[in-house]
Amino acid sequence: MSYVFGVIIPYAAIIIFIAGFLYKIAQWAAAPVPFHIPTACGQQRSLRWILSSRLDNPHSTLGVIGRMALEILFFRSLFRNTGAELKPGPVLVYGSAKWLWLAAMGFHWSLLVVLIRHLRFFTEPQPELITLIQNLDGFFQVALPVLFLSDVILITALAFLFIRRLADAKLRYLSLAADYFPLLLIGSIAVTGMLMRHISKVDLRSVKELTLGLIALQPSIPQGVGILFYIHISLVSVLFACFPFSKLMHMSGIFLSPTRNLANNSRMRRHVNPWNYDVKVHTYEEYEEEFKPVMTAAGLPVEKAGSADEESAS
Ligand code: HEM
Repeated sequence: MSYVFGVIIPYAAIIIFIAGFLYKIAQWAAAPVPFHIPTACGQQRSLRWILSSRLDNPHSTLGVIGRMALEILFFRSLFRNTGAELKPGPVLVYGSAKWLWLAAMGFHWSLLVVLIRHLRFFTEPQPELITLIQNLDGFFQVALPVLFLSDVILITALAFLFIRRLADAKLRYLSLAADYFPLLLIGSIAVTGMLMRHISKVDLRSVKELTLGLIALQPSIPQGVGILFYIHISLVSVLFACFPFSKLMHMSGIFLSPTRNLANNSRMRRHVNPWNYDVKVHTYEEYEEEFKPVMTAAGLPVEKAGSADEESAS
C-alpha cells in the first residue's frame, strides 16, 4: 500500500488541485462584470478641494493595489469587524471584535511559514532563505527537536476558530459542515506533523528521497518512511483535492472580486453597462414632424416652420 499512499494518492490530488483551480479561475474570469461596484468605505474622489480617501475609496489602480495589499496581508476589513450582542433590556450593543482578526492573522501567517519551511523537502540544496526562516521560527529553542513558534500559533489559532463556531449560538446556527471541515482537516495535518517531529520520529532523509522523486516524476518508495508520514501526506492530499471545490478558494477569489479590484472612478469616467440594448427613442423633432398638421390645426405652438405639404393640408 506504500505506493498507493506515497505516490498514487498524492499525484491524483495534485492533478485534481491544478485542474480544479484553473477551471474555477477560468469560470470566474469569464463571468461578466456589467456594473461598477467597488466597495466604498470612505469619501469618493470628486472636487479637488474635497479630501478623498485614497485607500478606502480608491480612484486609481495604485489605490486599488494598496487597498488589496492591506486586505490580503493584514485582513484590514476584518480588523474593522464589529460584534453585535443583545443585552438585557433588550438593547442591541455593538462593540469592537478583534479576536477573530487576531486568530485569522495568526492562522494564515503561521500556515504560510509552515509551508515555506516545508520547501526543504522539495529542494536540494536547501535555499538559504528557508534556513533563515527556520532559525527565526525556532528562535526560542524550546525542546529538542526545536519547537517552532509557527506550529504553536497554528494549532492555537485553529483551536480558537473551531471553538468559536461551537461556543457562540449564533455562529453555531450559521455554521455548516463546509466550515468545520477545513479547520478539522488542517488541524489534523498539523497534529500529525507535530507528532512526527516530536513524538514518533520519521526518517527525514527517506521522506526527502520520496518527495524529490515525486517532483522529478520518478517516484520510488524508500525504506523507513513511517506510517505517520503516510497519514500526514494522505490528509494533505485530501486537502489539495478538496481545495478547488471548497471555501478555501477565497485564496484566489479575493483577486477576482469586483468589489475589491475596481477603482471607484465613476465620477471621472462614465461606465456604460455593455449589456444595454439600443433603446428605440422617439425624439421631440420626430413627434412634431408626425403630428404637426394636427397640432397646428389645434392652435398648439410648433417649433419648426411648416413645410409646403403641411401648409396646403391646413
Ligand atoms: C497543507 C500542507 C501541509 C501542512 C499544513 C503541514 C503541516 C505540518 C506541520 C504543522 C508540521 C509540524 C512540524 C513543522 O512545522 O515542520 C509538519 C511536519 C512534517 N510534515 Fe507537513 N504539512 C503539509 C504538507 C506536507 C507535505 C506535502 C509533506 C511531504 C513531504 C509533509 C511532510 C512533513 C514531515 C516529514 C514533517 C516532520 C518534520 C520534522 O520532523 O521536522 N508535510 N507538517
